[in-house]
Amino acid sequence: MAKGDPLLIVQNLRAYYPSKKGLVRAVDDVSFIVREGECVGLLGESGSGKSSMALAILGLFEKVARFAAGASNDPELKQAFDRGTSGSNERPGLRGRVVFRDRELTGLPQEELVKIRGKELSLIPQGLGHALNPQHSIGHQTAEPIEVHEDEVRLLELKKKVLEYLGIVQLADAGLRYVMDPGCFSGGESQRILIAMALIAGPYMVIADEPTSALDVTMQRQIMNVLRMIKEEFDVSLLLISHDAGVIAELADRVAVMYAGKIVESGPAVQIFHNPQHPYTMGLMTSFPTIAMMQMKAGKKPRLRGIPGDPPDLANIPSGCPFHPRCRYVIDICREIIPEDREVEPDHHIRCHRWGEISDE
Ligand SMILES: Nc1ncnc2c1ncn2[C@@H]1O[C@H](COP(=O)(O)OP(=O)(O)OP(=O)(O)O)[C@@H](O)[C@H]1O
Ligand code: SF4
Ligand SMILES: [Mg+2]
Repeated sequence: MAKGDPLLIVQNLRAYYPSKKGLVRAVDDVSFIVREGECVGLLGESGSGKSSMALAILGLFEKVARFAAGASNDPELKQAFDRGTSGSNERPGLRGRVVFRDRELTGLPQEELVKIRGKELSLIPQGLGHALNPQHSIGHQTAEPIEVHEDEVRLLELKKKVLEYLGIVQLADAGLRYVMDPGCFSGGESQRILIAMALIAGPYMVIADEPTSALDVTMQRQIMNVLRMIKEEFDVSLLLISHDAGVIAELADRVAVMYAGKIVESGPAVQIFHNPQHPYTMGLMTSFPTIAMMQMKAGKKPRLRGIPGDPPDLANIPSGCPFHPRCRYVIDICREIIPEDREVEPDHHIRCHRWGEISDE
């Protein structure tokens, strides 16, 4: 595959959880592409469905949702997956297509997905809390993705490779500390170890889910530097997930903005940050001082206005355009009809009834 070819194609993806309140439409008819060698930023407020999308792409969504329903001790929820009508969109589970390197992942058995996950397509998971196993040394855990996939790797070679990758992510004193348990490492160091684990098997693509949000400001900066180095020096595509537009602005070539389980605007990063056209994106860009500064440097009048109200409960999404209760441009049609995804110019998609009529003033 050459640079610029589609590596990951997500098409009409839906990922719904069962819940006592009803279906939680965490990912709701989402389509987008990640191309070879690029970094796509997935930006959205907390609870917009970003992590659920990562799980869905990796083939882990149903397992996680079933587990959560099973752990709830609610017999209704436990049965919810198996009860619905086959083919209907109104039931929990995963629907739509995920194609990775020309291979359809949706519907592949877990035995096949295990061969792809971690090796070809890996995840830097959100939150450091449960990501590393406290029972095993970090050297052992970093080696896991290649131990699983390369039976013949000998112990010494394995150690050499583990140290090489812990060195790449600049873990201090890795040679001495790789035998230590995760409890001996700070948050920033744990994040470096998770990045090394995601890279060690030489994946084509890494999904980084909120790689900086559990860290203090200094650590955030350091981890962003590691991610930038990976983007520049490794032949790997990135799906960078964050609620922080500043994080996405630093690395992304293209951006997809998610609201209430849908991508409401996507396009080249420059367009999204300097000339957002969906009212939600316009509002988001006025919520982050780093973006206001960036726009000011580009000669634009900066605004820090934010967005009124809160994101919706995904078990009870507003009718029509899900953003309508918070939108300053709302008209009648917005309350009734869900806007379709439109390609308004090459590679720039928007879901808004009023695209072309409104401006960010
Ligand atoms: N196991 C589950 N069962 C039911 N609902 C769930 C489950 N996991 C997540 N949800 C709901 O799905 C929605 C999307 O959650 P998700 O974690 O994907 O959002 P997110 O954009 O990653 O948020 P954050 O920025 O806080 O990480 C939320 O409403 C959340 O409450
Ligand atoms: S469709 Fe209507 S409510 Fe939704 S973002 Fe566009 S103008 Fe606002
Ligand atoms: Mg998340």
